[in-house]
Amino acid sequence: MIDLDWDLERSRARQNKRWTQFDRDIIDLTVAEMDLPVPGPVLAAVQDAVRRQAFGYPVADELSEVPQAASEWLAEEHGLSAGPDRIRLLPELMRGVTMSVTHLTRAGSPVVVPTPVYGRFFDAIGVAGREAVQVPMRTGEHGYELDLDGIERALRAGAGSVLLCHPGNPTGRVLERGPLRELAALAARYDAKVISDEIHAPLRYEPGFTPYGSLDDTAVTLISATKAWNFPGLRCGLIVFSDPGDARIWAKLPRAAVGGMSPLGMTATVAAFRDGRPWLREAVRFLDGNRKLVTEALAALDIGYVEPQAGYLAWLDLRRFGLADPAAHLLQWTGVATTTGADHGAAGNGFVRLNFATPPGVLKEALDRITACLLGRTGRPGDA
Ligand SMILES: Cc1ncc(COP(=O)(O)O)c(C=O)c1O
Repeated sequence: MIDLDWDLERSRARQNKRWTQFDRDIIDLTVAEMDLPVPGPVLAAVQDAVRRQAFGYPVADELSEVPQAASEWLAEEHGLSAGPDRIRLLPELMRGVTMSVTHLTRAGSPVVVPTPVYGRFFDAIGVAGREAVQVPMRTGEHGYELDLDGIERALRAGAGSVLLCHPGNPTGRVLERGPLRELAALAARYDAKVISDEIHAPLRYEPGFTPYGSLDDTAVTLISATKAWNFPGLRCGLIVFSDPGDARIWAKLPRAAVGGMSPLGMTATVAAFRDGRPWLREAVRFLDGNRKLVTEALAALDIGYVEPQAGYLAWLDLRRFGLADPAAHLLQWTGVATTTGADHGAAGNGFVRLNFATPPGVLKEALDRITACLLGRTGRPGDA
């Protein structure tokens, strides 16, 4: 059903950020969107909206179909029970972070951020005028784990909230129920609000996912169809309030704070949640093939690489190569652009993040260049 012959020329023809940041000879594996076509049902719904010239201001959240479609999808696929009255729309998830930190957490309180994490979290907390307290995750047998002692120390010292990325960007880590329960107990003990960004959850490779909001009736969950169904530019995300009191506070916020959705994004979101499941299954199969290519290629580097459990981002620990700036080194010596690990918090120093949602041939070429360079066959490892 997905046109897997999709090639880079078609991605380039989109004229978006992806594939326009560098010269043509650079393989850009930075921007987190997929070199895949948009799902047929999403495209058809948006084309119909274009035919109807549906370019006016969007209807109020509660009059649109989005909360109902999202509520059904959350119950059936995500494991979170939330009625449409608990679901409100956002133009983008980072707005959800700034506004929930501002209005739903203790005035002025710092925000705990388990790292490494999506770099825009720090921007969003900054826009809210708050301090981010980075608590690096521990690396356990199955990859990254929450440092619950570190989180508790930060809460005891006055932090009023925890901003979670579950599954993780850049780690692809799906957190397990046990530690999430412990986090919920800490949140209750210190009267802290947990805000859980679960945008990557639909793209998981194995069954079994615990949405944080299923364990904490004061949680705020951020979710969106835009990432998993590949229309991030259409601007529509969702905020889910486990606590009806939070929904009431939100309802009083002015449009300037919480408005700005695109009607095309709303249309696309309903189509994705209602009719996009077969496409999603195929996309995950495609991504899984690429995930294996990455794992195979990186085995040669002996970097203790852990496969993501969700999403299409690979997180590479290049510290053993002693490079001052691994992403700059790879760009210079291999022509492959990756995201600098340090963008993901101090715990990311020495790492790079790589988007593998690209045609397998392109990915193989990038991985060949990276491994050859780091193994010292080309380029000059050690230089930055
Ligand atoms: C964890 C996470 N949250 C949010 C976003 C972006 O969401 P939005 O564009 O809706 O702010 C991304 C994009 O990569 C992400 O990885």
